[in-house]
Amino acid sequence: MSHDAHTDRDPHHDPLKADSDSQGGSRHPDADPLTDSRPTHPESRRAPLHIDPRIERSHTLPGWVYTDPELYRKQKERVFARSWQWIGAADSVKAPGHVLPRTLLEGCLDEPLVLTRADDGALRLLSNVCTHRGALVVEGEGHVRFLRCRYHGRKFGLDGCLQAMPEFEGVEGFPSPSDDLPELPLEQWGPFLFTALDPVCSFDDWIAPVRERVGFMPVEEFRFDPNHSRDYLIDANWALYCDNYLEEFHIPYVHGASLTGSLDYDRYRTERFAWGNLQFGMGRDGEPGFDLPPGHPDEGEPVIAFYFWLFPNLMLNFYPWGLSMNLVQPLGPERTRVAFRSWVWREELRGKGAGADLHRVEMEDEEVVESVQRGVRSRLYQRGRFSPRREVGTHHFHYLLDQALRRDGRGEGGGQGGG
Ligand code: FES
Ligand SMILES: [Fe+2]
Repeated sequence: MSHDAHTDRDPHHDPLKADSDSQGGSRHPDADPLTDSRPTHPESRRAPLHIDPRIERSHTLPGWVYTDPELYRKQKERVFARSWQWIGAADSVKAPGHVLPRTLLEGCLDEPLVLTRADDGALRLLSNVCTHRGALVVEGEGHVRFLRCRYHGRKFGLDGCLQAMPEFEGVEGFPSPSDDLPELPLEQWGPFLFTALDPVCSFDDWIAPVRERVGFMPVEEFRFDPNHSRDYLIDANWALYCDNYLEEFHIPYVHGASLTGSLDYDRYRTERFAWGNLQFGMGRDGEPGFDLPPGHPDEGEPVIAFYFWLFPNLMLNFYPWGLSMNLVQPLGPERTRVAFRSWVWREELRGKGAGADLHRVEMEDEEVVESVQRGVRSRLYQRGRFSPRREVGTHHFHYLLDQALRRDGRGEGGGQGGG
């Protein structure tokens, strides 16, 4: 299996912009149902989607969850349209008048948005869709005094408020607030911006464990490193990528040569929060670890990596040298892009410890994840059980995903059930 990974070496590269060859989305959803030999897991033979909150009793997600186009569509509305998503760095739009179009979760939600910095210095995230007949308003980054839709000339302020519309004399009840560009919540942690279309939890609840554990690091001072930032394209469902990331079980088997030299597997553990979890990479004797300040909850422990996962698709891996962020971006039921973005704090620690060769570790993970994707398509595979000691994070993810699929989605007209 080849990996069409490629590197973004342009320092001005938009950290979330997809590369052109990743735009095909899934290579499978359009497969001809008459010639496609992959099983369809008819509903009558599907294991139910139910995750028991007690890991000792629970089964894993059934195989059909990782291939089913209908469930994938539900996940877009119930999981991704209802969760917090990374949308960029605050310093990408500095001066008043600066506007920058962004696409929320490109290849999945594809929601057109625009970041604007108004005259009063306020940073906003607006819908980039004209409230007249739906044209995209801002087509490229630039510096402007107002936004003007080029289709019929509707004019908006940088705050999204409608300012003028030609040829609209006599239109009753116009303008009204619904003629302004909708504004999305914009939250900041360190230099990073986050947004959500219709979040099921508050941003503060979501980010709280990160603030508590790594708030001692000067994240605002971290420097973006384009040379260690790249996209990986994987022939697997996005949730399989998360499943693998979230369990420690495979470390000695899959990363025996790359990680077990620095990680103390016996002391490795996972802690769960309401909306995410944290794996503690504990170092063997002599491994360079964090200098945890007095009063830190893990003071005195030989932590060499904090591996945060925040529901549903953000991974923040903190090492003594800085941060490796992984954004898991679904492109289809069996196709995923994972954006690796690095920010460096202490360059001199870069080549040391568990965060030294992330590309090698990623290649090791991708091979097993793609292998599992071929396996979960099987007519003979139903679902598995969990190791209570080593698969805590994966079980937590499955539980949160099951719960999310029971809620109404952003783009749905009601209805319950996880399919
Ligand atoms: S669609 Fe924007 S002015 Fe008509
Ligand atoms: Fe791994």
